[in-house]
Amino acid sequence: MLNFKKAVADVLDNIIEPLDSQQIFDILELPPNPEMGDLALPCFKLSKIMRRSPVQIAQELAEKLQVSEYIDKVEAVSGYLNIFFIKSAFIKEVLESAIKEKDKYGSQDVGKGKTVVIDYSAPNIAKPFHVGHLRSTVIGNSLYKIFEFMGYNCVGVNHLGDWGTQFGKLIVAYKKWGSREKVEKDQIKELMALYVRFHDEAEKNPELDDEARAWFTKMERGDQEALELWKWFKDISLKEFDRVYKVLGVSFDSYAGESFYNDKMDATVEELKQKNLLKESEGAQIVDLEEYGMPPCIILKKDGSTLYATRDITAAIYRKNTYDFDKCIYVTGASQSLHFQQWFKVIELMGYPWAKNLIHVPFGIVSLGGEKLATRKGKVVLLEDILNEAIKKTREIIEEKSPNMENKDETAREIGVGAVIFSDLSNNRIKDVSFTWDEALNFDGETGPYVQYTHARTCSVLNKAGMEPSSEFNAELLSTKEEYQLVKTLYQFPEKVIQAMNDLEPSVITRYLVDVAQDFNRFYHEHSILVEDQELRKARLALVAATRITLSNGLKLIGLSAPERV
Ligand code: ARG
Repeated sequence: MLNFKKAVADVLDNIIEPLDSQQIFDILELPPNPEMGDLALPCFKLSKIMRRSPVQIAQELAEKLQVSEYIDKVEAVSGYLNIFFIKSAFIKEVLESAIKEKDKYGSQDVGKGKTVVIDYSAPNIAKPFHVGHLRSTVIGNSLYKIFEFMGYNCVGVNHLGDWGTQFGKLIVAYKKWGSREKVEKDQIKELMALYVRFHDEAEKNPELDDEARAWFTKMERGDQEALELWKWFKDISLKEFDRVYKVLGVSFDSYAGESFYNDKMDATVEELKQKNLLKESEGAQIVDLEEYGMPPCIILKKDGSTLYATRDITAAIYRKNTYDFDKCIYVTGASQSLHFQQWFKVIELMGYPWAKNLIHVPFGIVSLGGEKLATRKGKVVLLEDILNEAIKKTREIIEEKSPNMENKDETAREIGVGAVIFSDLSNNRIKDVSFTWDEALNFDGETGPYVQYTHARTCSVLNKAGMEPSSEFNAELLSTKEEYQLVKTLYQFPEKVIQAMNDLEPSVITRYLVDVAQDFNRFYHEHSILVEDQELRKARLALVAATRITLSNGLKLIGLSAPERV
């Protein structure tokens, strides 16, 4: 598609000497209302370098600027240069691109030949998959889709929390209070109950913690009994996780979790030693980070066992060697920020220049009805229960609204799950999320169901029309303000995708989709589409088709399906 903003920047570049086209591009704004044009140049940003007042600059530029094949007119208004496109040329270009590029509309190949590793979801074995993990899963999954759309080769890694002292705890709890029958019957729920019981009892009897540590050390040394139990717990957990991933429609390229690095950590410790980075402190081996204003990064505990950070350092080196990534992105709660800063620093101190390509993508806390979720206290809401509830509620709504629909179950799944994902991705990721049913499942609010419903509406209009939308249409016929507004919003899609990628922020797409849906519905309510006049009908159908494509592509980027019927 012709990038209108870029084209305008090029034209302005010819008459604004001190700046280049890219700098002008970055300054150009979208005016808040249509009377101010399609793009605006805030001239106060030039006044220092051009040594004139914004009003003067705007005036001069307006006089100098020639109209062209896509600029209709320019106006200088209180220090802004407002630029108006030739509407029909703009409409034609945008709709034609969307209709021709279809599921590629909005994509680019900026990432060609480059690899991004995305580390997301990473639930902990033997602990439940709760709403907190949902965030990592859906943000990571969306980033994966966005980078892929931009031409990157993506590697999605589920760095399972399947190693560490918590397994020692679980083994102790199982041996003391558990039974094979009970675990076999209740699976992860029983493992969780054992974990919670361990914490309750350990509060009264701290010796249990020593026992747990001893069992973990046994695991690290390859003790058979310990490893058999560990493997059994892990299989039980993976079964549950897979069920959840299926419902969410999420998958991974690698399940190399923490345990995968067990036989690779000696080499890391050795390398740290060789590079003179290890120091002994109270029996433990640490990398001192005082100079950088951080607490030390502990590499080995005094009993010689490894830590979360030891495994992360080892995993990063392994990933660099295996995938030769350009970026490696870690999606976790903001509470882990310090952990990442610490070990990123260690990688840098080891002399690896790619340390700067390790990126932590933190997010805020999810609460349900205002309550924080924590595993230890056992006060968790299982993600699976939430998804099932969402599907059930959606099924009821469908039963009421469209009792004759086919595939009710599948549609209820797509919309129910979509509602949960969408609500999670609605705000900037760093913000805390408070999940409430009414908000998530509201078909009229700024929700997943609303966007999916609008997409289905475009499909139904196109089906009823009985003709293929074509990029051959008369753009001058799309002359109303609702039509033009919708085109302008569709035009923004490629830029929004880039912004979402650069900011590692799927909510850019989520919010954008609400804008598209709202603009489409305004158009839909104001104007008939399947009118008698064949030329007008064709033009409006092109607009509907481009909207359908944009909504469908956008929904996929945030990991939602775009059902044709709702
Ligand atoms: N399992 C960890 C947790 O639930 C998240 C792991 C994130 N990935 C990583 N490479 N540290 O908190």
